[in-house]
Parts: sequence; structure tokens; C-alpha cells
Amino acid sequence: MPSLSSSVSKPTSFCDSLTLKALLFIFSLLLNLYLIFLLCSLKFPPTISTRSSTIVPTTRRHILFAIASSSVSWPRRHPYLRLWYSPNTTRSLAFLDSPPASDSSSSSSLPPVVINGDTSRFPYTFKGGLRSAIRVARVVKEAVERGEKEVRWFVFGDDDTVFLVENVVSVLSKYDHDRWYYVGSNSESYEQNEKYSFEMAFGGGGIYSCVAELGIGLTHEPGFHQFDMRGNLFGILAAHPLSPLLSLHHLEAVEPLFPNMNRTQAIEHLMEAAAVDPARMLQQTVCYDSSKSLTFSVSWGFAIQVFEGNEFLPDLLQVQKTFVPWKRGSKVVGKFMFNTRDYPKDPCQRPFLFFMKSVEFDKSGIWSNYTRHAVGNCFEKSNSVKQLKKIVVFSRKLQLNVEELKAPRRECCDVLPTSNETTIIHIRHCKTDELISMYQ
Ligand SMILES: *[C@@H]1O[C@H](CO)[C@@H](O)[C@H](O)[C@H]1NC(C)=O
Ligand SMILES: *[C@@H]1O[C@H](CO)[C@@H](O)[C@H](O)[C@H]1NC(C)=O
Ligand SMILES: *[C@@H]1O[C@H](CO)[C@@H](O)[C@H](O)[C@H]1NC(C)=O
Ligand SMILES: *[C@@H]1O[C@H](CO)[C@@H](O)[C@H](O)[C@H]1NC(C)=O
Repeated sequence: MPSLSSSVSKPTSFCDSLTLKALLFIFSLLLNLYLIFLLCSLKFPPTISTRSSTIVPTTRRHILFAIASSSVSWPRRHPYLRLWYSPNTTRSLAFLDSPPASDSSSSSSLPPVVINGDTSRFPYTFKGGLRSAIRVARVVKEAVERGEKEVRWFVFGDDDTVFLVENVVSVLSKYDHDRWYYVGSNSESYEQNEKYSFEMAFGGGGIYSCVAELGIGLTHEPGFHQFDMRGNLFGILAAHPLSPLLSLHHLEAVEPLFPNMNRTQAIEHLMEAAAVDPARMLQQTVCYDSSKSLTFSVSWGFAIQVFEGNEFLPDLLQVQKTFVPWKRGSKVVGKFMFNTRDYPKDPCQRPFLFFMKSVEFDKSGIWSNYTRHAVGNCFEKSNSVKQLKKIVVFSRKLQLNVEELKAPRRECCDVLPTSNETTIIHIRHCKTDELISMYQ
């Protein structure tokens, strides 16, 4: 048996350890079109160059995004790819079964296309499955075997995955790339984790078995989103974990993220905010206007909820169940991996919603504007909320160093006195022992 150090010093042997059993397991996953996402670092022999590279911080050029696509899905997924891929600063390759139609492949704003090797020699016996799963699983091996220079991390995703590249870079820089890591998050769905393994890097995801055989466990990063759910994602986007947003997947299975937009427009709109302050994207900040007895829950770059009265922070951190389970059918229970609370059916019980309209910045900071979204009519709401049309949030660019990423702390905010129609919220660091509550 090879020792760990000798096996890890040969990155090209990475997926040789894929056994048939493992492959079948992976295939069953891929059939369901789960996001394949795997991060692994390559361990090189301890040479001087390795030591010096540890000192050089991880940047965009150290990360290779390997995207599993196909000639059929490729043209349809251009809008997603263009949202995060930038030819000058992002390293990415798209793996396809055959060359795409010439008009769609020539675009320099898309990752270069690599045609996967022939997989016809592999037996495929999984009942009801798709043979293309073999090809997709082998993207890992083919990406690594290219021996691209200076790659510290491989990121695997589907062509309908939207990455926040800046955040991926900063989160990976927490880890020593000279060690083996398999980074991702669980599925949101308890049933999917139970079926495929709680050790699987979903949203992130897949290729779990060969990594397990290498003796590597999952490192959880909650910012990867598989989105094993359907319907309205509002609840989950409004209560994001205290961790940078890293990926969004399954966006075609859910409603547009913003009202009055189609899916593409909505994700583009979200990414406009992400371009200004990626680290703050969807970070939840809660503040209280005790004079008017209102509670504001900000999900930066996305939406603000305004509640009448005092809502406790722990309640606001729970995900409102605005979505439905991934699996359809009356027998589906739909248990999730986080606490949920019901989204009230009665409009008078719901918070007022404000969605992000625009984000502007200058030297002093960043202003994000949120405008009122009127859904249903509730005549019982008090005047102070009824008159409110716009919320302006002021913040400074969130730049977390590695130590701050390891020990994140939610920020605080203040509601500033303004006109009846507009409220200004100022996001800032909390004081050392400041509490996030209405009555301090
Ligand atoms: C990328 O680099 C090329 C060549 O240096 C340059 O012409 C082009 O404007 C750059 N594109 C962007 C989006 O920065
Ligand atoms: C979404 O809206 C944009 C802008 O109106 C439009 O160009 C695009 O074709 C729409 N996409 C779909 C899939 O309807
Ligand atoms: C956002 O709000 C600020 C402050 O009220 C305002 O100056 C700016 O014009 C607003 N931008 C938009 C697009 O509404
Ligand atoms: C603001 O609201 C208060 C209370 O509803 C009202 O008395 C006041 O006239 C309003 N001011 C303006 C400028 O509309």
C-alpha cells in the first residue's frame, strides 16, 4: 500500500482510486443532476517552492473552475457562465461531450471548451440512469491530469452554477492548499443527505466516494448552495448563514429571485450587488427602531423585511419556509437541515418587503436602495410602516481577513431618523459587548 505522502505527491493519480462501486454511486447522483462540486488541493513534495507558495496568498489565478456541461445545455447556460466568468481574471474550463455549434463556442466571454475523452469502454449498468454520468464524473480526472500551472484548488460545478469567485478565493485562503481538503456543504434537504451521505459536498457535491477512499472527510462551508428545493427562495436568501455566499445552483428550478423579473434578469440583478461588495452579499443584519417600534432585517444586496413590534433576533435567523421540497409528491415530508418557521398565509402577519433596487458607491461607502414590494393588501398595518416607500442602507465594503473569516461576527445597524417615506439604515461593526436587541 502506498504511504500517504507518496500517493498525495502524485496529483495525476487522483481519481485512479475511483472504483466501479464508487462510480456507480456517483452516477446515481448525477442522474438527478445534482451539482457536482469538489474542491481538492494537490499536495506536492515539500520543496522550497511549496513553502514560498504558502506565503503567497491564494488569488483568483490559483483556482481552476472545471464546469461540467454538454453540447445541448451549453448554449442555454451562457447567461449563467457570463455572470461569474471573466476571461482575464478567472481560470475556467468547460467540459463538453462534443463541440458546441460554432456560433456559440467562439465567444471569448465564456470559458474555453474541452471535449471529454471517450467513455464508451466503461460498462454502465445503473438502471434508469444516464450514461453521460460517466463522462461528467471523469471531468475531475481530466481536469487534474491537464497539469495546469499554479493551480492550488480545483472547483467543480455544473453549467447552471453561479459562483461568487471573490468569496471562493477568500474562503479557500483560510485553508492550507498543501493539504487535502474536500470542501462543500450539505444539501438543504435532510432526505437528500440521508440518501447520498451527510459527508457529500453538495452545492458542492458528488465524487464523495473516491474522496472517502482517499481518507478525506468533508469540510463544511455553508455558503455553497445546492438549493434542493423549489418555489420561492426568499426565506433562505433572507436568512443566510453568517458565512460568505459562494455558489447558487438549481436556479432554473426555482422562481426568479426578484419580483417582476425573469430568472436571468433576477440573478443578474443580484450579481450587480455582489460585484460591489461580494463579502457582504446576503449577510443578515438586524436593527430596531424603538421609537416607532419597528424591526428591520436586512439581507444585504437582496431584501429588507420590516416587522411591526419587537422581533427577537433568534426568530429572525430562522429560515421562513417560502419554498417547497425538491421531491414532489404527497408523501414527501420535506425536512430541512436548518430550523424553519412558517411563512404566514395571512398578509397581515407578514413583514413588509423591500427589494434591492440599486447599489451605488463612492469613496465614503456604499449605498444600497431597497423599494417597497406591495403584495396583497393589509389595511390593519400602522401608518408608520404604510408610508415607508424606500430604505437606503449605508455600509462600508466588507473585507474580512482570514482570522475574521474563521471567527465571524454579525454586524450591527442603526435606524437613522428620516422622512416618513424613506428610512436610512447604517450598518457598522458591533461594539465589543453590544447586543442585537430592541431594548439594550
Ligand atoms: C482582457 O485583456 C485583453 C488583453 O489584455 C484586453 O484587450 C481586454 O480589454 C481585457 N478585458 C477585460 C474585460 O478586462
Ligand atoms: C428576460 O428578460 C430580458 C430583458 O427583458 C430579456 O432580454 C430575456 O430574453 C428574458 N429571458 C427570458 C428567458 O425570458
Ligand atoms: C438611492 O438613495 C440615495 C439616497 O436617498 C439617492 O441619492 C439615490 O439617488 C438613490 N438611487 C436610486 C437609484 O434610487
Ligand atoms: C409623517 O407621519 C406622521 C404620523 O403619521 C404625520 O403626522 C406627519 O404629517 C407625516 N409627515 C409628512 C411630511 O407626511
